[in-house]
Amino acid sequence: MLSEVLLVSAPGKVILHGEHAVVHGKVALAMALNLRTFLRLQPHSNGKVCLNLPNIGVKRAWDVAGLQLQDTSFLEQGDATVPTAEQVEKLKEVAGITQDGAKPEGLAVLAFLYLYLSICRKQRALPSLDITVWSQLPTGAGLGSSAAYSACMAAALLTMCEEIPNPQKDGVSASRWAVEDLELINKWAFQGERMIHGNPSGVDNAVSTWGGALRFQQGKISSLERPLALKILLTNTKVPRSTKTLVASVRSRLLKFPEIVTPLLTSINAISLECERMLGEMAVAPAPEHYLVLEELIDMNQHHLNALGVGHASLDQLCRVTMAHGLHSKLTGAGGGGCGITLLRPDLEQPEVEATKQALNDCGFDCWETSIGAPGISVHSAAFLDPSVCQALDGL
Ligand code: MEV
Repeated sequence: MLSEVLLVSAPGKVILHGEHAVVHGKVALAMALNLRTFLRLQPHSNGKVCLNLPNIGVKRAWDVAGLQLQDTSFLEQGDATVPTAEQVEKLKEVAGITQDGAKPEGLAVLAFLYLYLSICRKQRALPSLDITVWSQLPTGAGLGSSAAYSACMAAALLTMCEEIPNPQKDGVSASRWAVEDLELINKWAFQGERMIHGNPSGVDNAVSTWGGALRFQQGKISSLERPLALKILLTNTKVPRSTKTLVASVRSRLLKFPEIVTPLLTSINAISLECERMLGEMAVAPAPEHYLVLEELIDMNQHHLNALGVGHASLDQLCRVTMAHGLHSKLTGAGGGGCGITLLRPDLEQPEVEATKQALNDCGFDCWETSIGAPGISVHSAAFLDPSVCQALDGL
């Protein structure tokens, strides 16, 4: 078992094109968002397992001896199998989770214990450790924060238990695992996601693990080769929405007006494919014209999403405000509020970006200048980690 401190991070995700259409078998493109979740794992010999999640106010500790005495044999010998409802209940008992079982705090604790007890089962004794997870991602905004959490947890525990090697190289700020190790991380990250979300598609954990850009269609996920990092503004309108209700409303519109809605979905599919083609060309030789095409695709898709009925006044406002600065935006995810993305062309001057951010903040929105196409799960050297991340992990 490794005895050194591990620092890992994983990105969140945005859907660039194809939300809603993907539910009806069309292509969607998801990209890794360079707002990341960071995890520090510190092995100990104090007989305790401690979990600190400062973003959601969780601070829990268990005696390793107590956990060791619990019958958790149902977790099999470290296999990534789907736990039954009864097993989840048993795990809640072990975790001491009572009423808050369905809340983010309870679910995060549950996913941790599930991964810890499953992955560390092969060790002679359960390890003593201190884990802190801090995220730049807002929770519950459809940006894949739980998948980034699960991916970090899986990668750190698998590395500590020497199920996969530590890829960190001296003098390098961030290193990544080999493909076969990433596959194992992804498998366990998906299990963590299942504990939190019940029946997720697996896209979010795949983006957190592999990074870059992924194409998904009918459950099949593949990475786009040589993904490019695109600069964006990510805006959270903070208008709450229900993905389930919005997905159902598109389905009923499709049933009511099949001849109108089917071509919209076909067109969104074509937008995803054209965007994929553009990104491929841009990876070889990016030119200013490519960005103009990406902007046109964004505008067309946003109109289609409005026609599907998943727009919102706050998203219209986002599009109007950014258009006043010559920038193009669309919703990302379920719509009906939630988040939107605005493409930042490389030729943009920083004062223009700042003015746009200010205008969006003035609307009451949260706004981040970041990029998409970011690297997937990585291990960091403490010496190179941004001091603000270190401070957040230290709880300062
Ligand atoms: C939500 O992030 C994306 C939707 O397409 C729903 C889904 O794919 O499950 C709206």
